[in-house]
Amino acid sequence: MTVDAVDTDPLTAKLAARLGHPCLNAMHEDVRRIAIPPAAYALIVAIHVLPFLPRVECSAIISAIINGLADDGILCGTLFGVRDGWAGNRALMTFVSKSEAASYFTHLLPIVFSEAEYDGIDAHDRPKHWHVFRFILRKPSCPAPTQA
Ligand SMILES: C[S@@+](CC[C@H](N)C(=O)[O-])C[C@H]1O[C@@H](n2cnc3c(N)ncnc32)[C@H](O)[C@@H]1O
Repeated sequence: MTVDAVDTDPLTAKLAARLGHPCLNAMHEDVRRIAIPPAAYALIVAIHVLPFLPRVECSAIISAIINGLADDGILCGTLFGVRDGWAGNRALMTFVSKSEAASYFTHLLPIVFSEAEYDGIDAHDRPKHWHVFRFILRKPSCPAPTQA
């Protein structure tokens, strides 16, 4: 089993290189520039990354991710809601309503689909109001062919 990890932050590739694990393939790349192979992954994790993409690209990447899941593959990720503290002042990010979040995943089966709203801090210890959808979803197997 190998893990493909994609991040635009050069620190990620640096840390991965330090780890030197033969099964970890760290790519210093923009996820929008990666051709995700179809039906290739048993698990795709996209935690706190999709909201950082502009809306159109966020939607396109979600489609590519779903296409990249193998049958029974699991997608684990987050989206930010419209009441997130950053909504309204970060035009290049994506904030979604609950129905919009759900609409991205109509072809997947929910294991967890939760909505949380709370006051906390961001990665730089600054106060932030969080509105987050967290999801763990399974891609159903193709229906078995019917017998004649
Ligand atoms: C808020 S951090 C979350 C990191 C980690 N997933 C977590 O939950 O702690 C967002 C990460 O997404 C990466 N990122 C943002 N836009 C990206 C893009 N277009 N392609 C690849 N990585 C991106 C950033 O470099 C950063 O490491």
